[in-house]
Amino acid sequence: MKHSELSLFKESGEKIACLTAYDASIAGLIDGAGVDIVLIGDSLGMVIQGGSNTRSVTMKDMLYHTSIVSKACQSALVIADMPFESYENTELALTNAKQLVSVGADMVKIEGGQEHEEIFRVLVSNDINVCGHLGLQPQLVIDSSDYKIQGRDKGSSELIMSDAILLESLGISVLVLECVPSDLAKNVSSKIGIPTIGIGAGNGCDGQVLVSYDMLGITSGRQPRFVRNFMSFEDSISLAVSAFVREVKAGTFPSESESY
Ligand code: KIV
Repeated sequence: MKHSELSLFKESGEKIACLTAYDASIAGLIDGAGVDIVLIGDSLGMVIQGGSNTRSVTMKDMLYHTSIVSKACQSALVIADMPFESYENTELALTNAKQLVSVGADMVKIEGGQEHEEIFRVLVSNDINVCGHLGLQPQLVIDSSDYKIQGRDKGSSELIMSDAILLESLGISVLVLECVPSDLAKNVSSKIGIPTIGIGAGNGCDGQVLVSYDMLGITSGRQPRFVRNFMSFEDSISLAVSAFVREVKAGTFPSESESY
């Protein structure tokens, strides 16, 4: 998918299916199975590096994984996460974003809202396609006790809404909403003109994303309620990913019991 085609999804109501990938083999399978967006997430700090959060991931790691994943993707739009401390100021953010684009990213993802207003502005004005990320921001998570649903009270839900409106006005192309109540995600999705992609945000978003290792049942331990193991019903990774794409497009994933 080309970046310019993103808005067509919102216009037509077709849901966007997005999965993470960190290596060429899984990226090739995911791309071939019809996923619209492949995200090289800094979740790699946990699922690839075995850490307890995403903060150990470096620009060097992201450049390596982005270069191998992007080469394996023929059709999907490729988004690369800007890792922790890689966008401390506008100059650093621009240098690092350009590097991710130079190794194959079509877009970069940055967590946070108004506190990074200038960074979003500078990246967009330098023709870098940007994805926002509001709600639960994994780079603020230190340990599992920090995984909490965001936007449950009036103040925090209003902040998520105003940040979403601000980010759209700054020119971002797409917005990830993580771990927020379905009603709030649905409201945000109807208020802004760019697509939202939810994870633990209910099925009122314009698309869905999951960590591929979670939906393939590779991740061990107790999973959050929004994770469905698509390998439980299918015989191969390709079939599991196709089922994910099918259920996202049909609006049957996530179900109410997989939402907040
Ligand atoms: O790093 C990641 O995998 C992400 C998704 C959870 C959206 O940011």
